[in-house]
Amino acid sequence: MTSKTNMTSMPTAPSNPRSQDESTTVQFRIWRGDSSGGTFQTFPVAVSEGMVVLDCVHRIQAEQANDLAVRWNCKAGKCGSCSAEINGQPKLMCMTRMETLPVGQPVTIEPLRSFPSIRDLVTDVSWNFRVKKKIKPFKPRKPDNADGSWTMMQEDVDRVQEFRKCIECFLCQDVCHVLRDHHKHDEFIGPRFLLYTAALEMHPLDTEDRIADLKNNDGIGYCNITKCCTKVCPEHIGITDNAIIPMKERVVDEFYDPMTRLFRMFKPKG
Ligand code: SF4
Ligand code: SF4
Ligand code: FES
Repeated sequence: MTSKTNMTSMPTAPSNPRSQDESTTVQFRIWRGDSSGGTFQTFPVAVSEGMVVLDCVHRIQAEQANDLAVRWNCKAGKCGSCSAEINGQPKLMCMTRMETLPVGQPVTIEPLRSFPSIRDLVTDVSWNFRVKKKIKPFKPRKPDNADGSWTMMQEDVDRVQEFRKCIECFLCQDVCHVLRDHHKHDEFIGPRFLLYTAALEMHPLDTEDRIADLKNNDGIGYCNITKCCTKVCPEHIGITDNAIIPMKERVVDEFYDPMTRLFRMFKPKG
């Protein structure tokens, strides 16, 4: 995630303004409050063709509630800042077009519910950054060639490429029931960081071993493959099939298959 510089700044004009007579009025129910509690407040917004939910929030901020707190940065689906729950679904506000929402019904916007509230639509996601710091970093093997370069198979490089698309929006963390409903933040790192660990573990140059951490510290056993995380990922990363399941298989191989364990003892990684 990039820096969240626009938490309460005044908005720019909506990206695709059209004349007032081409607009429709939509009621927005926006959660207002902080860690001590809050309530929904309703705002009518003139919505024109091409507007996204973030445009509407900016219009509300500009015209009706200057103190409405909302976090955003790129308005292009790349910084991961504008995550919220729109009609109960974790989404990026800047990538949710108004025409994709049910016509004639109010639009409800709430902050991410798996993290503590700061104010209005802004949550404290710093837990994620603390989790990331605890994961063992990339540890490359010595160069393969005299000129200091490495030789890798293209298919090994391609396999982790998908994982690098993550924008750290934390929508997957928000939707995961282990965090959202069971509050296992002390025992489970969540899908984003299972993915991050998989990216390191599958990196063709990496020599570190994080498999014991996945089992003992990161709570991979809590994941029961519901795939809710995969469904909400705006980058369409195969979080469950391509990252979490292979990591679960490595944990099983390492700790529950004596032959594989013996083999790995004599064939160190990398
Ligand atoms: S597949 Fe696992 S990590 Fe993803 S939402 Fe379900 S329980 Fe959470
Ligand atoms: S894996 Fe997808 S949903 Fe999860 S933080 Fe990265 S981009 Fe967001
Ligand atoms: S503002 Fe950057 S992802 Fe929405």
